[in-house]
Amino acid sequence: MSSHPKDADGFYRLAQLDQVPDEDMLQVMMEDDGVEVDIALAMVDGQLYAFRDICPHMAFPLSIGYLEGTKLTCVGHAWTFDIKSGRALMPPIKKNLALYETKLDGENNVWVKVDPLF
Ligand code: FES
Repeated sequence: MSSHPKDADGFYRLAQLDQVPDEDMLQVMMEDDGVEVDIALAMVDGQLYAFRDICPHMAFPLSIGYLEGTKLTCVGHAWTFDIKSGRALMPPIKKNLALYETKLDGENNVWVKVDPLF
């Protein structure tokens, strides 16, 4: 696992923007204060998203799932989520994704703050 620089605001530099595939996902493994965290980065309609790469059902990696717009289908048991809101889409599922805040710098580096937004 490569090390990822952390800035003063708590964002980690995880990738170059052109590494994030269009309408698809990239898995990045990183450490946050010594704890391994798998992150999925996704690009949909020119918008960058980041979320924990672990399905809240039975922990399959979400980045090997399928995207249709912002609707993500997990390959494990086909639960679906909206990566924009983090919400589970199939009632009665109530476990949402952990979304992360992202930002870009002037060199098109993708930075992610690992604290969950919700
Ligand atoms: S592990 Fe994702 S739906 Fe079961």
